[in-house]
Amino acid sequence: MERPHILVTRPLFAQTLARLSQHFRVDAHTEERPLTKATLIQRLQSKQGVLAVGGDRIDAEVLEACPGLRICANFGVGYDNLDIEAMTRRGVLATNAPDVLTETTADFAFALLMATARRVTESERFVRTGQWNHGRYDLFAGCDVHGSTLGIIGLGRIGQAIARRAVGGFDMRVLYHKRTRLSREDEARFSVTYAAKDELLQAADHVLLVLPFSAATRHTIGERELSLMKATATLVNVARGGIVDDEALARALRDRRIAAAGLDVFEREPNVHPDLLEASNIVLTPHIASATIRTRRAMAELAAENLIAYFLRGVASTPINPEVLRSRVAVHGSTLRPHAGNLPR
Ligand code: DGY
Repeated sequence: MERPHILVTRPLFAQTLARLSQHFRVDAHTEERPLTKATLIQRLQSKQGVLAVGGDRIDAEVLEACPGLRICANFGVGYDNLDIEAMTRRGVLATNAPDVLTETTADFAFALLMATARRVTESERFVRTGQWNHGRYDLFAGCDVHGSTLGIIGLGRIGQAIARRAVGGFDMRVLYHKRTRLSREDEARFSVTYAAKDELLQAADHVLLVLPFSAATRHTIGERELSLMKATATLVNVARGGIVDDEALARALRDRRIAAAGLDVFEREPNVHPDLLEASNIVLTPHIASATIRTRRAMAELAAENLIAYFLRGVASTPINPEVLRSRVAVHGSTLRPHAGNLPR
């Protein structure tokens, strides 16, 4: 039987590609420039699997044009680039890469928080232009992180890892807001206090966003929310672009209605709103929160593992729509069963 044919949409570790090549015919896109939708469709039409990243939109149009597609293994934990409903309807399995990036992303969230509150990149630019601190008492005077109040919106696995750093390392009071409130036991375990969104925005010295993007979370932070925040507050987004209204944020930064922002994600990636680029009180990074070599390798390996497990054994470690595996079992009367790791968390 011919080996399944898969597409890898971005340059990947040679080791992971070699592993994939042991099981599949691999079409690897090796250029840095992402595939356009038309090229994605064209290259995916003859494939049964795809290893995709956040910028690759696998929607109803792509699925319609690529009826042979059986699985999309997403490189990241977030999967707002996938139309899960359409995939499930067509029996296409979607997988993501949770857990392996939790601590690394939490580290970065803290790095961005520190850089933003303590004006690290702003002062670096100052030094690079040949200037120095000649004893001005307020030069790049920022906001304390230690002992302050952190408001985390979206307390999932990454949010919890951030809370641990905040409480244990920086003696912070942590407020959180989340669609589903944690149990009292978990709140005590993480030393976090639930707050309504507006209450959190009013009380926090630093607001950190780690919630998934969906139509419901679009513009979680807009003009109204920014107006509730303290004038001394910072806003950090390591979640997804679109959760913040970038235009409203640029205005708030310009008018000093909040002190500063740190953004790893943007509404129209790869484009950054020009008004954000103009602001001095902002730290900008290009969607790299999970980018350490070790973690990126683990993410790639997990995506590869999902493809291999699916085609070889009809299972997956981290499925997003495990019902596809169950119905496959039902339709084909197979003895294959998704293992415990496949079940939704
Ligand atoms: C994720 O895992 O969702 C990150 O944003 C990396 O793409």
